Amino acid sequence: MDNDIQEVLFDQDSIHHAAVRLGKQITKDYAGEEPVVLSVLKGAYLWTADLLREVDLYVKLEFIKISSYHGGVSSTNSISLVTDIHSDVQGRDVIILEDIVDTGQSLLFLKKLLAERGAKSIQVATLLDKKEGRKVEIRADYIGFDVRNEFVVGYGLDYKEMYRNLPYVGILKKEVYSD
Ligand code: IMP
Ligand code: MG
Repeated sequence: MDNDIQEVLFDQDSIHHAAVRLGKQITKDYAGEEPVVLSVLKGAYLWTADLLREVDLYVKLEFIKISSYHGGVSSTNSISLVTDIHSDVQGRDVIILEDIVDTGQSLLFLKKLLAERGAKSIQVATLLDKKEGRKVEIRADYIGFDVRNEFVVGYGLDYKEMYRNLPYVGILKKEVYSD
């Protein structure tokens, strides 16, 4: 897989440091609380595992699956709920864990859903923030790294369901994708 990568942006070490930094911050900010951590599948699977091990709180971990991309590199406006959670978020503090915030549409969809269900507070911890990609006004509360407007893969992020298991985040070579 390494041969398909043009440039490594965030290696294992720097991702670990980001997890430690944000984990400490979340532990401090939510001291005494028992937040619901909502991990967004599939992209946030590694980020969830690494970040949560740095969070010293009683958390309830939930996974939700939404679809926004259709296997390619460009975003679409249609977002659908693929696998929902079964627990009640009414009156709960929720922390959404995302791999990347790009257009912001997925996050807007999730925040609306949680607000409708009566969440007490909703915050977002994302590994990557691609601010240039934003199409709706929304921001993450905890950000691992800002990332430039390139298509990246690895550490959870995929291209056509591949590269999620790369231990680092890198830019995919243009010749690897066709659309
Ligand atoms: P948004 O709704 O455009 O903010 O997109 C959010 C989702 O799109 C993320 O959770 C990712 O799954 C996916 N995504 C956005 N940018 C990238 C990228 O550069 N590489 C891989 N997936 C991406
Ligand atoms: Mg995602």
